[in-house]
Amino acid sequence: MAGGQGIVKPNRLMKKLLVVGSYNVDLISMTDRLPAPGETVLGSSFFTCPGGKGANQAVAAAKMGQDTTFLAKVGADSFGAEAVQFLKKQHINADLVRQEQGCKTGTAQIIVNSQGENIIVVSPGANNLFSSDDMMSNEAVISEVDAILVQFEIPKETIETAIQLAKKHNKTVIVNPAPVLDLDQSALRGIDYLTPNEHELKLLSKCASLASIQEIKEAGMKVIREYSVKNLIVTLGSKGVLYQSEEKSVLYPSFKVNAIDTSGAGDCFNGAFSYFLLQGLSMDDVVFYASAAAALSVTRLGTSSSYPDLQEVMTFASEHQIEESRLL
Ligand code: RIB
Repeated sequence: MAGGQGIVKPNRLMKKLLVVGSYNVDLISMTDRLPAPGETVLGSSFFTCPGGKGANQAVAAAKMGQDTTFLAKVGADSFGAEAVQFLKKQHINADLVRQEQGCKTGTAQIIVNSQGENIIVVSPGANNLFSSDDMMSNEAVISEVDAILVQFEIPKETIETAIQLAKKHNKTVIVNPAPVLDLDQSALRGIDYLTPNEHELKLLSKCASLASIQEIKEAGMKVIREYSVKNLIVTLGSKGVLYQSEEKSVLYPSFKVNAIDTSGAGDCFNGAFSYFLLQGLSMDDVVFYASAAAALSVTRLGTSSSYPDLQEVMTFASEHQIEESRLL
């Protein structure tokens, strides 16, 4: 099996995606190495970038040409006003992004070392005020889209309501459980796609070790069964992507690139994944092109600022070979 055979034409099917999630302003410091507790290290540069897992995923999808609506809360501050402008510039429908009075826009302090690894601390601000009632009052929006994509940077009840409403209206539900929350096990029942990374899979499965692909596969199967999800996609960084369902497990190798900043790469994967899925491609192709988008993003600095557009992904995918995927 090899990906990259699918024909991708922008907006081929004109499907609609709703991203429900967080917006943060990312405050990014580059440094040789990450500080230990109590230690001060000198950074080499600092910049800010629109971020938050929800906004990042909306941007990644929109850059592919996806018709994308974003539902979120920001503060009634200058960051919040900039957020709305930024999202509109990315051709995202941001009409439902509310500026909450008396509240600060979420921020994320991100430190990136010279290996491209990062640590992130999020101060949620307005994201924490995105309530289940807000979600309920947007039921009509959910009923009009084809798929929803949600992550775990907003309150648990809001996520659960979003998933319930999407299931009620028979929409495709993609859940990126990042960062992992102690969600009610039944909340994910029957969802179409769950997309943890390795760390999140470990927390969800409660498996002590994920040292080998066999252990990762077993943990994945445990999550599929315990949470009753239809498809599991585990992003494994340089080890590739594991696709699992009750019927099969496939390991897709990664593109080999020189990573300078991996922050937001998972979000890039999820946004691009949603686009290629809605284009009706095979899972081989969906994972192949979404992996290409994420691989490109790690070769650039920043979170949403590092995301490629569809043309860049197609060019990159045609110029880079990866090994065959294998059935596990
Ligand atoms: O996944 C990366 C994102 O996590 C950053 O943009 C930051 O805002 C945090 O939400």
